[in-house]
Amino acid sequence: MRLSLRFVLPLLVVLGAVAYGVTQLADRLTLRWSVRDLDTRTALVANTIEDSLPELILTGRRDRVVDLFNRMVRDERLYAVGFCDARHELIYRSVTFPARLTCLQFEDLQPGLGRVLHLQRGSLHAAVNPVRGPAGRSLGDLILLHDMSFIERRSEDTRRYVFYLFAALAAVISLVTVAVAQISWWSWVRGLRAMLSGDWLLRASADPGPPELAPVAKDLRALLRDLRGNGTAQDEYQVSWTPESLRAILQQDLLDDEILAVSNRGPYVYAYRDGVLQAQRPASGLVTALEPVMLACSGTWIAHGSGSADRRAVDARDHIPATPQRPGYDVRLVWLSPEEEDGYYYGFCNEGLWPLCHIVHTRPLFRPKDWERYVAVNRKFATAVFEEAKTPDPVVLVQDYHFALLPAMIRRRLPDATIIVFWHIPWPNPEAFGICPWAEQIVAGMLGSSILGFHTRYHCNNFLDTVDRFLEARVDREVNAVSYQGTRTTVKRYPISIEWPPSHLVGLPSVEACRRQLRERYSLQPDIKVVLGVDRLDYTKGIPERFLAIERLLELDPSWVGRLVLVQIGAPSRSRIPEYRDFGERVEALAGRINVRFARGGYRPIVLRLEHVDASEVYAHYRAADVCIVSSLHDGMNLVAKEFVAARDDERGALILSEFTGASRELVEALIINPYDLDQCSAALRAALTMPTDEQRARMRSMRALIQEFNVYRWAGRMLLDAAAMRRRTRLLAAGRGWAAKAPDRPREIAL
Ligand code: G6P
Repeated sequence: MRLSLRFVLPLLVVLGAVAYGVTQLADRLTLRWSVRDLDTRTALVANTIEDSLPELILTGRRDRVVDLFNRMVRDERLYAVGFCDARHELIYRSVTFPARLTCLQFEDLQPGLGRVLHLQRGSLHAAVNPVRGPAGRSLGDLILLHDMSFIERRSEDTRRYVFYLFAALAAVISLVTVAVAQISWWSWVRGLRAMLSGDWLLRASADPGPPELAPVAKDLRALLRDLRGNGTAQDEYQVSWTPESLRAILQQDLLDDEILAVSNRGPYVYAYRDGVLQAQRPASGLVTALEPVMLACSGTWIAHGSGSADRRAVDARDHIPATPQRPGYDVRLVWLSPEEEDGYYYGFCNEGLWPLCHIVHTRPLFRPKDWERYVAVNRKFATAVFEEAKTPDPVVLVQDYHFALLPAMIRRRLPDATIIVFWHIPWPNPEAFGICPWAEQIVAGMLGSSILGFHTRYHCNNFLDTVDRFLEARVDREVNAVSYQGTRTTVKRYPISIEWPPSHLVGLPSVEACRRQLRERYSLQPDIKVVLGVDRLDYTKGIPERFLAIERLLELDPSWVGRLVLVQIGAPSRSRIPEYRDFGERVEALAGRINVRFARGGYRPIVLRLEHVDASEVYAHYRAADVCIVSSLHDGMNLVAKEFVAARDDERGALILSEFTGASRELVEALIINPYDLDQCSAALRAALTMPTDEQRARMRSMRALIQEFNVYRWAGRMLLDAAAMRRRTRLLAAGRGWAAKAPDRPREIAL
């Protein structure tokens, strides 16, 4: 209402002023036209007596002249008539002729051009008309006074009509204005509310919304950025890490910027089983960690289409779009030729970089052809990132050793992207890394990233040492950053983790039921102790070492024969590589030998299951086991250890964990072993199998609390918060540069 008054009051003032002006003008015009009318009328009246009047005057018939004049003034407009002789004497006049008027007052009047006289009784129009006798001799002037009160009445009427007209106009314009203002206000407010209540404002790439709100939205966005830049930015310790909080961070701190993830292994591999297209979750710690993050942030996950039926699963754009059944994120698959897969994946990645980074005494193989394919495939993925990017500055999460060159390649094509690289495997010391003939190119490629993450501080330091050794780069140890060819990369520790609570636990039976089912499945006695191993069939995992530790325990304490069993799940992995094939055979042979050695009736100490097992079944195994053993010879983190702890909501069970895993830095309540030390490992096995319930509970509780707090959302969230802070700083610096450009030039040298 107040707003409407603000429109209406000025409108009324303006209309009033215009109405006043119009009436003034109308008055003036009416007067002018009326005077002109009366001039004409005067001439007409004079004409009618033109013949009779001179004769009456010349004959001196005063009474007849006066009578004539009095008859003439019966006309309601003609107020008075008089006659001034040549000596300007008013010698005849009608009774109405004002006594105050003399002939001198009409002396200067021209015939046919009257004048208005303002008298006390009102205004009169005075006009003169010469009266001529025979031979045109001037006898004097006829004075005709017309009453002008009718003009005033006309003016008054005009004024009234103008007033009514403008009042009506004001009313109509006010009504229309108020109505239009109200409608615009409502729609503006509605638009503003929608903008503020939804996440529209926070999505930079969202539709631009109503054009009239665009400037407001722009200012608000800038304000939000400023506010966040001014200390409202989130701190990882203030957040309780859940998918929702991760999503909120993406919306608040990254204003819902575009997120792209790149990894070799995608979330699913598709294959036909019994004629039905089926999706299988690959055995990969990377996939386990990245999937919940992608579900929370709804980005696009670019991966190698390695499944035998992957081409059947994609649309025309090689996409598997999010669906109600599989909501959350899009998948874009990249196809590799068999030669590319051989050289890049099997060759350079898994025969070269994998053994290079894991210190497990397996000789890395570096073939120039593999390197060429590695470069070509990295380029292919860079093109896919470029194709998928809808904005010039997306946040790109590059995963693992398959894509060491990708960051620099993306940086070249999307210079404003924020590139976060996470290296899921260990980083060795510079001497070990220097074995690689392309060490320099690999390190330089990684330094295209904005943030480079490793699981442990030790791996970060190894990387910085490697940069120092191989490149002409500035390494700032104070803040752990490297500046190389114009890009600054922060090198930081981000220990990876798992989702909490694990979704695979949902719907699983109780621990008791799981124990029973597992013992039934493997035909074990109900009271037998189960030690569990879950790994990919990989030589870094220390599987033979744990078999040997079981053998050692049975050797040293034969009372365990028949009372304990090691259930080892080994998912076949990279089996086209001879080293992996040999390894699988060695594992089978070793298990066979130990089983033969300690076989008693149907009892065998090692149950070997070399196949892919679904995550929910793996979790059921975790719940059923008494002990879980992770004896990796070298491992970036190892998520099996964390999954086992997360599965034990009964706070029971014991974890044996290799000191060469990243997880051993966090899960210090586990029984930490050196897998190369057989006696220590068998002692740990015995300790785990006989651990009192209270101790199991105390250790489990503490480890569970840690994983709950440091879950995978925090892992991703910390990197994204750092990325957000980096983006804010970049914007501020850009603004600063703008300011510097505007500053007046200062002399660069001081004149002496
Ligand atoms: C490790 C790597 C992952 C890889 C996984 C499985 O965890 O860090 O990048 O996905 O092994 O290996 P695969 O070669 O089967 O993908």
